Amino acid sequence: RKPVTLHRLREMHAQGEKITMLTAYDATFARLVDECGVDCILVGDSLGMLVQGHSSTVPVSLDEMVYHTRCVARGNRSAWVVGDLPFGSYQESREQALRSSVALMQAGAHMVKLEGGGWTADTVHFLTERGIPVCAHIGLTPQSVHALGGYRIQGRDEAGVETLRRHAKELTQAGAAMMVLELMPSAVAAQVQADNPGVMTIGIGAGNATAGQVLVLHDMLHVTRGKLPRFVRNFMAEGGSVEDAIGRYVSEVKAGHFPDESIHAY
Ligand code: KIV
Ligand code: NA
Repeated sequence: RKPVTLHRLREMHAQGEKITMLTAYDATFARLVDECGVDCILVGDSLGMLVQGHSSTVPVSLDEMVYHTRCVARGNRSAWVVGDLPFGSYQESREQALRSSVALMQAGAHMVKLEGGGWTADTVHFLTERGIPVCAHIGLTPQSVHALGGYRIQGRDEAGVETLRRHAKELTQAGAAMMVLELMPSAVAAQVQADNPGVMTIGIGAGNATAGQVLVLHDMLHVTRGKLPRFVRNFMAEGGSVEDAIGRYVSEVKAGHFPDESIHAY
């Protein structure tokens, strides 16, 4: 297939075609995810838990993200690669964020992702103006797990909803092309997308009204141990192979069947 570009993703969004995203942290899985037709690969800092065995994403370093982005870029042929800016690599200043983003882009990312609300808008604008496409990330932001008091659903009360809507608007106005919405009621995610029709919202535990969906690869293949959140569907149980599971994820998201509002949403 032809390489997935930002232009192509925007076209899909404009035409109402759902955007698919999965994580990958190495060349073998990047190649497989790409060949199964997933639009975007996220080199997520969730690798801190899935690959490195940490209990949060907080310990992950920029050098480690660069290493995994390089691995993914070597395996990938055509998917759009999003690289996560890890904790501590963009909070200090927009100049620090630029240096960290350059490192990820030179390792093979096409876009960088950073967590946080309106306080990151200045950085998003700074990066966007300098030729770096940015994916924002609001709702549950795992790098702030210790400040949030655990992996909890965001936007539960009126004040929380207003905060999310304000942040989404500020980030969109700052130039974020894409925005991960993590762990919030479906109605809130739907409202954020309606408020900002131009931004490509990518949901995880945020219902079915977003422009696209993302899952952690290990979770949807059910190789992650322990209790999984209810927004995860075990695609491996339904097919005989990893390839089939990933292909099924793509077709279910494209058809609007995953996530199912009655099972995987809040
Ligand atoms: O690191 C990650 O995998 C992520 C997704 C859960 C959105 O940020
Ligand atoms: Na992440």
